[in-house]
Amino acid sequence: MGIEIFSLEGRRALVTGASRGIGRSIALAFAEAGADVAVAARTVSDLETLAKEIESLGRRAVVIETDIRNRDAIQSMVDAVVAEFGGLDIMVNNAGGSNFMSPLIAMRPEGWEKIRTLNYDAVFHACQIGAQAMLASGGGSIINISSVAGISGAPTLSMYSAAKGGVRLFTQAIAKELAASGVRANCISPGWIDTPLNDWMTSDENTLREAEKMIPMGRIGRPEEIVGAALYLASDASTFTTGTTLVVDGGQTA
Ligand SMILES: NC(=O)c1ccc[n+]([C@@H]2O[C@H](COP(=O)([O-])OP(=O)(O)OC[C@H]3O[C@@H](n4cnc5c(N)ncnc54)[C@H](OP(=O)(O)O)[C@@H]3O)[C@@H](O)[C@H]2O)c1
Repeated sequence: MGIEIFSLEGRRALVTGASRGIGRSIALAFAEAGADVAVAARTVSDLETLAKEIESLGRRAVVIETDIRNRDAIQSMVDAVVAEFGGLDIMVNNAGGSNFMSPLIAMRPEGWEKIRTLNYDAVFHACQIGAQAMLASGGGSIINISSVAGISGAPTLSMYSAAKGGVRLFTQAIAKELAASGVRANCISPGWIDTPLNDWMTSDENTLREAEKMIPMGRIGRPEEIVGAALYLASDASTFTTGTTLVVDGGQTA
């Protein structure tokens, strides 16, 4: 068995939140590994730029404008991939994040709801709808992007921690349910990664230094450093791996 076990030749992938950050890096890497890639997010112009890069690698690309906070939009997204590619083999549920922090006592229920809808409910809808499409073609790989905040509690991000921890256990549960069907489900839990999500931190030297102190490697990660884990979980390199979480965090949670 050689390096070809990492090949995604002939696979049909869908990456949500592909317009920037971690999702963009994963989508490009999948195309480089041989997959046709559907890229989904709200910002179509960024997706179109990415689609051109995917096509320049000789792969098919589909741009899907979507808002994953809406189940019907998720259904339409998956339907579009199946209509365009003829099936779905790999689904990366990456879109998510939190654009505010709040201590428990000050948190408004609307804030909790907002983070839950984006980071938790959407993963349920996407996994249910995506798994149905995968079952129709005999199997596939679901990759949910959790976080180190879903492994240990993140103060002032309690709702985000709860959602990401929930995604991890949800993934473990559905991995067991689906194991015999040929559909695998796994998580990646990134630590601090230098994406637009963290501009608030990287744009301030002192805040960045404080974050780096929490990381044994002494630096935050780059989006490309999540790609290896995604390629492993998407490809035949991981055919006996389901229900696991790959932590990519510079040693933060070790
Ligand atoms: N960066 C980190 O340090 C870090 C650490 C742990 C986990 N994570 C997780 O990794 C994932 C990617 O994060 P990132 O750092 O790459 O974030 P990012 O740079 O902010 O990118 C987020 C992506 O999600 C899309 N998105 C956001 N809301 C959406 C919605 N309602 N519907 C559809 N797409 C939506 C965005 O595109 P549009 O705005 O165009 O829709 C964008 O493509 C997230 O789940 C995040 O929680 C990140």
